[in-house]
Amino acid sequence: DAAEKGGYDHYMLKEIHEQPQALRQAVAGRIDAVEERVELDRSLSTAFLDSLDEIQLVACGTSYHACLYGKQLLESLADVRVTVEFGSEYAVGSGRDPERTLVVGVSQSGETADTLRALRTAKRTGIRTLGVTNTVGSTVARECDDALYIQAGPEIGVAATKTFASQVVTLALLAVDVADSRGELDPADGRELLSNLQALPGAVQTALDRDREVREVADAYAGGEAFFFIGRQFATPVALEGALKLKEISYDHAEGFPAGELKHGPLALITERTPVLAILTDGARPEETHNNVKEVQSRGAPVVAVTSETGREGDYEVGFDVPDLGVLEPLVANVYLQLFAYHVADGKARPIDRPRNLAKSVTVE
Ligand code: G6P
Repeated sequence: DAAEKGGYDHYMLKEIHEQPQALRQAVAGRIDAVEERVELDRSLSTAFLDSLDEIQLVACGTSYHACLYGKQLLESLADVRVTVEFGSEYAVGSGRDPERTLVVGVSQSGETADTLRALRTAKRTGIRTLGVTNTVGSTVARECDDALYIQAGPEIGVAATKTFASQVVTLALLAVDVADSRGELDPADGRELLSNLQALPGAVQTALDRDREVREVADAYAGGEAFFFIGRQFATPVALEGALKLKEISYDHAEGFPAGELKHGPLALITERTPVLAILTDGARPEETHNNVKEVQSRGAPVVAVTSETGREGDYEVGFDVPDLGVLEPLVANVYLQLFAYHVADGKARPIDRPRNLAKSVTVE
């Protein structure tokens, strides 16, 4: 067992540290650097992608958060309407042309019952389906019209970590591919995203190298009554994911939401005993979130900030910075949040790899 964990105390920590490798695998053989194009092994035709009115992303849990990130990538690059729904809530809805709609089911395991239900519902209506999964031969991969693998390698810890990053990167590649297929790809935008995707593993490594510092911060704040995670735009899914990670493994109350929504309710819960983790990176309108940070600080809440390198880590009592990576910066911020959740839970001696009441893959609706 110890050998399988590669010297780490838990699979989760091992898998957090495997992210640079997983991210290299996610893009391996898929970026033509000379042509500045994405080459995905897909059977859905370019003409079909070009004809789409709408892409519907369906998933559960962490995969749902990856979809929220993917939606923003797709919409910003490919000029296509994208919706995101929980597998359990999916309904085809009216006014859709099945011929011009694609449902993308995102599932690490490829076996989540709620996501399968959504994909089968779509299929029955004549909508074509694409599975984005980590698991070759899984039900999602077999039942969808086409499958795209995230190539992250096995994930054992119940709380998904490296597969979130790999899902977002795979959806980023899909976004470039769809944009290109539709003749919408702005060459400069495409070039920037592809080069940032290739720089991402190194950037993630710089965050991982600060593991010890994150542990100190986690130890200092672990006694909080509740934890709030805020971000904007590309950082909103990461705020949601940061809160989910913490609640799954530490059993502390944690909530993530768009920073702008703070004043519409959650602010009532902010005290000096509720640490706020704020993501102020590129792609996340950091100046506006900075104002929200000031609002919680004036109510005494301690703030852990993750900022861009060019930002102002120094403005916050506790800060971690992220190298310049455009809209992928929140993905690096997420690594700090994963480590934070891990160390809070570890300090409380929680069974991190097998949290109570949860399963790696939920095969009942
Ligand atoms: C379970 C796991 C989560 C996971 C979710 C969706 O709830 O505990 O970590 O995000 O299922 O799983 P999937 O395999 O469909 O991505």
